[in-house]
Amino acid sequence: MEELYFITSNKGKFKEAEAKIKHLDIELIQLRLDYPEIQASDLKEIALYGLDFCSERFKSPFFLEDSGLFIDELNSFPGPYSRYVQETIGNDGILKLLLGVINRRAYFKSVVALYDKGPHTFEGISMGKISNEIRGKEGFGFDPIFIPLESSKTFGEISTEEKNKYSHRAKALDAMVKYLENGVE
Ligand code: IMP
Repeated sequence: MEELYFITSNKGKFKEAEAKIKHLDIELIQLRLDYPEIQASDLKEIALYGLDFCSERFKSPFFLEDSGLFIDELNSFPGPYSRYVQETIGNDGILKLLLGVINRRAYFKSVVALYDKGPHTFEGISMGKISNEIRGKEGFGFDPIFIPLESSKTFGEISTEEKNKYSHRAKALDAMVKYLENGVE
């Protein structure tokens, strides 16, 4: 494989994937192709629907990624609705919903769906908690309010390089890279 397309309009996601793939002899290309994101509670189902839709229209090897933030105290909200929630109430809105709440446990989940000769999925989870205030300007989305277990800083306070060592997307991308290297899922 010489070229691999990442179908996403999210620059932050692309930057993270680029860093993970750069040691392979593969050119990673960002492709902004709109595909339907169905309403479902399962990220894998959403990703596989998108994969199927795109594979009928696009014939080179590609992957896409679906991710979400699951907050314990909010019964896993926003989960699959993370993008919409980020675009509407944003980080301030989430902090307001959790004002005075002691249980701040949360996790990020990422599902990477790859299409080469067929569909493959790879998953990663990052456990952590929601901070009490917005901290840091790195990254994107909920990064400034999420503190991973591995750190006392938010994802917004650490470099992409550091985030890429243990984030949900890093784990899912690592699994995909392993597959691209060895053909083993
Ligand atoms: P989607 O995967 O494009 O449907 O959107 C998931 C949404 O979750 C993104 O738009 C972000 O708002 C949020 N999100 C997913 N992964 C991350 C991350 O690594 N950091 C911060 N926010 C994230």
